[in-house]
Amino acid sequence: MLAKSQRCTLPGMSTTFYEHLFGVRDKVVLVTGGTRGIGLMIAEGLVRCGARVYISSRKEDACRDAEAQLSKLGVCVAIPCDISTIAGCQELARTLQASEDKLHVLVNNAGLTWSLDIDEFTEKAWDRVMDLDVKSPFFLTQALLPQLRAAATPDQRSSIINVTSVNGLKPGGLRNYSYVAAKAGLGQLTAQMARDLMDDHINVNAIAPGPFKSKMTAPLYATEEMEAQVRESFPMKRWGSMEDASGLTIFLSSRAGSYLTGVTLPCDGGATTIG
Ligand SMILES: NC(=O)c1ccc[n+]([C@@H]2O[C@H](COP(=O)([O-])OP(=O)(O)OC[C@H]3O[C@@H](n4cnc5c(N)ncnc54)[C@H](OP(=O)(O)O)[C@@H]3O)[C@@H](O)[C@H]2O)c1
Repeated sequence: MLAKSQRCTLPGMSTTFYEHLFGVRDKVVLVTGGTRGIGLMIAEGLVRCGARVYISSRKEDACRDAEAQLSKLGVCVAIPCDISTIAGCQELARTLQASEDKLHVLVNNAGLTWSLDIDEFTEKAWDRVMDLDVKSPFFLTQALLPQLRAAATPDQRSSIINVTSVNGLKPGGLRNYSYVAAKAGLGQLTAQMARDLMDDHINVNAIAPGPFKSKMTAPLYATEEMEAQVRESFPMKRWGSMEDASGLTIFLSSRAGSYLTGVTLPCDGGATTIG
């Protein structure tokens, strides 16, 4: 009787077809905002699948906690850095470059939102959100292009995954004016960068999450009653999970997703199309 891992190995292949399609083992990945919420979910899935995962956020203690948690499952290194400025993006890139010549996957996940009535919406609420949610993915990508190019081949394309939002696809009730503009803008930036990095063998796609439990969405489920009310309003009647966020990221990081570039994939249990 063959061992389970040998059973689906195809002639001429040293790995199973499943590993060939979905494997991310030993890929070098950077997940910004990887210390909590969706970024931590994405990082966990990638670490569990054997990728070498770097995570980053501003707070040193949050970085060390998440690094310790994920290091029990595989390889994870945290780099504390504020990437809301171009200098911060360049600093994070320099720190990574000191350890890695190649970067196979960049997940631009760090983001913030801001809600205020339309009559009271401020310039600060625009600038903070635009800086982190649109400018930072662009300038971090720019700073890491040498490593992304070095990792890319025609058969194994590097992958940039921008985390946008269903709020960038469809209006909602959150009065988050700069956020919806930033996330819609990041979707368009994704397509433009996909076009311009095509010949470098770098794919650029976006994931648009629907509702996931995180610090950002905590006010929506502050009480059990609110949690149930909000959950029942979703088409699938559940929040997104670690498997949902990381599964889509693993797909886009692996050979299975290699023929997709320039697209925004909702990860929302049907909220955009059916809700
Ligand atoms: N949760 C949802 O339902 C939902 C839905 C749609 C889209 N999204 C998007 O998904 C992404 C993650 O959201 P989330 O809900 O997981 O948010 P979250 O819980 O607030 O996590 C945000 C992460 O980004 C980091 N971060 C914030 N400002 C930063 C900065 N200036 N420099 C570096 N890192 C920074 C935070 O760590 P520090 O505080 O330590 O810096 C944290 O790790 C965001 O882009 C968000 O817009 C979320």
